[in-house]
Amino acid sequence: MVITIDGPAGSGKSTVAEEVARRLGLSFLNTGHMYRAIGLAARRREIDLNNQIELAYVAKHAKIEFDWSKYPPPVILNGERVTHLLGGRDVSEAASYVALVPAIREQMVKQQREIGDHLRDLVTEGRDQGTIVFPTAEFKFYVDASPDERARRRFVQLRNRAEQIEYKEILDQILVRDKRDRERLVGPLEKPKDAIEIDSTHLSFEDVVRHIIGLVETRHAT
Ligand code: DC
Repeated sequence: MVITIDGPAGSGKSTVAEEVARRLGLSFLNTGHMYRAIGLAARRREIDLNNQIELAYVAKHAKIEFDWSKYPPPVILNGERVTHLLGGRDVSEAASYVALVPAIREQMVKQQREIGDHLRDLVTEGRDQGTIVFPTAEFKFYVDASPDERARRRFVQLRNRAEQIEYKEILDQILVRDKRDRERLVGPLEKPKDAIEIDSTHLSFEDVVRHIIGLVETRHAT
């Protein structure tokens, strides 16, 4: 069984997907972490983020793996555990440029499908999981929230990481990234036609998790 959970930055899809997978006993694939790991590799090499040829070169030489023996599975970049380095502002920014490069998206889609074939039962989150990577998934969800609420959540996250940033700056970044995510030519963020949409603006994390699990269990039982 494959469950896809797509949505924009700050919608809460990753934490929700992780918890849904945990409660249902399925594997969890965080595809945002794959783009972020390449973003980290690009930052380390001080690549110009507008140079798509160099970004594609970095991606080609970046071996991304997950340690499936742990939950949630840590990301391994060329043999190094890097999950703890993926949440910062610099890496987020770099990942949003990495995600624009068609050759990198092709590489990621291929690897994500291979992971799906290998694991079989999984909850996967991202932007293109229900539309491009797993178009025949049994369950598709699209989790959204207002830009203000998404910026507020991100603000709290970054403050907990002791990063100094203003709320207004985060909101502006979210709006720029939304545009970049929705307007790119390959694998843009869009709601899969057959996905169930959940607006989480006024819902708690627990509400969203229970809603998804309830729908999966009900439909699975019929
Ligand atoms: O969900 P996230 O913020 O961790 O994603 C990091 C970046 O990768 C973000 O700019 C969107 C992009 N991304 C993507 O284009 N496709 C995916 N399946 C997952 C993430």
